[in-house]
Amino acid sequence: MDQLDQLLENNREWAEKIRSHHPDYFTALAKEQHPTILWIGCADSRVPPSVITGADPGMLFMHRNIANLAVHTDAGFHAVLEYAVDLLKVKHVVVAGHYNCGGVKAACSNEPAPDMIDHWIQHIRDIKRIYEPELIKEKDPQKREDRLVELNVIEQVRNIESSSTLKKARKRGQEVAIHGLVYDTGNGLLKRLIQK
Ligand code: CO
Repeated sequence: MDQLDQLLENNREWAEKIRSHHPDYFTALAKEQHPTILWIGCADSRVPPSVITGADPGMLFMHRNIANLAVHTDAGFHAVLEYAVDLLKVKHVVVAGHYNCGGVKAACSNEPAPDMIDHWIQHIRDIKRIYEPELIKEKDPQKREDRLVELNVIEQVRNIESSSTLKKARKRGQEVAIHGLVYDTGNGLLKRLIQK
């Protein structure tokens, strides 16, 4: 069976199993969503947010792109952030990076990536340049890359903190915590890096 056919089959079994236990599950969830967390993650197939956290449908509002970037010029991301904070009133915004991130790996390389990807990862190269004095002290290339993964998360948390959406929310007294996490692809665990 083709992999996609298998997924569709899995989906039918999953929906049937839930309906058999909770007949109203989907009709109730279809009406509205009340997630308390906006999750910003990498597009990487090895870090599916709901799977690694056990989150049920309706718990995570989500935005994913290459290397979990929250950049000021990305209108798609800012629409998600604004919707999550202003309308859904999420309590937490999470930026979750991961070690062995292809985007960060590409930014560490001197070889240019394909055009659009190269354009996108310039954001990470900028972070690498800002932290050059710290990164240069680490002689092991893998540890240097791992540190850049962490610094990238920290910088995205700062980008969100300085966004007009967060500034306005905090000015009107809305409590929103911004968290930076990193996922270890080697052991499946999430670690806290920063909270703002
Ligand atoms: Co990645």
